[in-house]
Amino acid sequence: MPKSRAIHLASRPTGMPAAANFALVERDVPDAADGEVLVQNLYMSVDPAMRPRLAVDQPLGEVMGGGALGRVVQSKTDAFKVGDLVSNGMGFREYFTSDPRGLRKLTPDPDLPLTVHMHALGGTGFTAYGGLLHIGALKDGEQVFVSTAAGAVGSVAAQIAQIKNCYVVGSTGSDAKAAWLRDEVGLDAVINYKTQPIREALAAATPKGIDVYFENVGGDHLEAALSRMNTLGRIPVCGFISGYNSGGSPVSNLFALIYARVTMRGFIAPDFMHLYGDFQRDMGGWLKAGKIKYQETIREGIADAPAALIGVMSGENSGKMLVKLAE
Ligand SMILES: NC(=O)c1ccc[n+]([C@@H]2O[C@H](COP(=O)([O-])OP(=O)(O)OC[C@H]3O[C@@H](n4cnc5c(N)ncnc54)[C@H](OP(=O)(O)O)[C@@H]3O)[C@@H](O)[C@H]2O)c1
Repeated sequence: MPKSRAIHLASRPTGMPAAANFALVERDVPDAADGEVLVQNLYMSVDPAMRPRLAVDQPLGEVMGGGALGRVVQSKTDAFKVGDLVSNGMGFREYFTSDPRGLRKLTPDPDLPLTVHMHALGGTGFTAYGGLLHIGALKDGEQVFVSTAAGAVGSVAAQIAQIKNCYVVGSTGSDAKAAWLRDEVGLDAVINYKTQPIREALAAATPKGIDVYFENVGGDHLEAALSRMNTLGRIPVCGFISGYNSGGSPVSNLFALIYARVTMRGFIAPDFMHLYGDFQRDMGGWLKAGKIKYQETIREGIADAPAALIGVMSGENSGKMLVKLAE
């Protein structure tokens, strides 16, 4: 019976979460009973979507929900054997005992680092792939704008657009991230929205307008993009991170949707599960060919998970934010 540490939500944050909103709790975890497995988590995913859930959905005094990758260390079911890697949604905890439902066996690609299954070749990459190609109906050679372009989802979306021979503009919040997008990824134009006014910078960077805006931010970014949308443009709405701490991201020019007949559509990955096989084939090939570059920000140890979440909401991460718990 191992001891397991976990992060609980202790109180609901107002504005930016603080360390005091979370508690590190240690519990005994039962050994696997018949039909169950005991799993040790290796990596935990840290996602902006956790922040809106802190306001209502995440119960107080319970383990923070979220995605993770673990290894089976005891098995009393034929579904998994000891050593199997499993994707799970058991959140910020070191160990858990569970029946096999909700666990997905991961067969890692031997030619790629394990961690890519937590981002480009995992959920965030699939979100970018389906959001851009299916919801955004991207066509070769279009004019594309991606916000949080140096983040986990945004960096993949921007590079898929490049692979589709599009003109790609990205926005980000630091000079270092802007340099990576410009020099390593090779975007056509990069905006640091913290040092340049987004509306003017986007207008200058999009002389042919925008056909697809891959929306991660909302607020002033959406306003700026709306004023540049081409006729029959599409805005796949992946996220509105600028409003997650404040509860909203106001926009004053939605009427622009009418004049340009723009389609704006929110989505989640289950909307396009039929594309998962295509995604794995395409993304695996692109990663091995060096056509998709990525960055990771990896914090060590369960105690650092609250700081990792605060960090992802503050722009501390370059690429995917992960917490590593074990080898
Ligand atoms: N629909 C879905 O199924 C789905 C799935 C995954 C993610 N998402 C959404 O996709 C977006 C990106 O998620 P991710 O996991 O890839 O995270 P990420 O981009 O790797 O990390 C979040 C980044 O957002 C930026 N940011 C933080 N506060 C901001 C603000 N007020 N204004 C502008 N940018 C801000 C920061 O980058 P900078 O330093 O560049 O500002 C930060 O590093 C989020 O909106 C998330 O909710 C949606």
